[in-house]
Amino acid sequence: MREFLIAGNWKMNATSAASAELVAGIIDGVPSGEGFSVLVCPPFPYIAAVAEQARGSAVLVGAQNVSEHAKGAFTGEVAPSMLRDVGCEYVIVGHSERRAIYGETSAQVAAKFVAAQAAGLTPILCVGETLDEREAGTTEAVIDEQLDAVLDVAGIDALAAAVIAYEPVWAIGTGKTATPEQAQDVHRHIRARLAAQNEAVAGGMRILYGGSMKGENAAGLLGQPDIDGGLIGGASLKAADFLAIAAAAAAQK
Ligand code: PGA
Repeated sequence: MREFLIAGNWKMNATSAASAELVAGIIDGVPSGEGFSVLVCPPFPYIAAVAEQARGSAVLVGAQNVSEHAKGAFTGEVAPSMLRDVGCEYVIVGHSERRAIYGETSAQVAAKFVAAQAAGLTPILCVGETLDEREAGTTEAVIDEQLDAVLDVAGIDALAAAVIAYEPVWAIGTGKTATPEQAQDVHRHIRARLAAQNEAVAGGMRILYGGSMKGENAAGLLGQPDIDGGLIGGASLKAADFLAIAAAAAAQK
């Protein structure tokens, strides 16, 4: 049985005081029960303190980005082993903001995926189409290209130790959520594409939905058979909003 993963992507928000308060609120309010886990991904400077605070609690810690290189002369970059060293278990790779604003290619995302796993991190691989791509009817082709770039380099077996997040770009930060049916269609497609290579990996894969997920729409999305959690931006910045989504996950297990 797949566990839900409710993951907060804080993006470039918070201060040290605000992140301490936010994670304290999340630790305090995480619903008890089985079948789901809760993850926060703060900005780099706050990860170590948040991980320290979260140690021994039900809250997991991850990062929003990582270098594809292990170490060396890469000014401004953060190595996967450094993230492990400060308490990260997960790392987001290929977020649409990285792809669109910083020009990360699918090949680079695949290299980050491999480097993250080599250091013992679980990558959360983000895929998703823009509005133009959806309207042009190329949603599945776009997602296939993003997925295949990783499958070709890492191999299907590596996907067993990863998470996928489907994030339609048009739904991120816009308040426009994909309907549960729209999301489920793409999640089903992703799982089927993995199943064509390995049914067990496909069956165990947690596929998160991301894009304006909030307390009010979480139950409908999480109720879909192929949606295994959420990657949450805006609604992860207030403990009560984030916990409402965690509660919706807990209620379904
Ligand atoms: P959003 O962001 O919840 O603010 O739409 C999701 C994401 O970008 O991961």
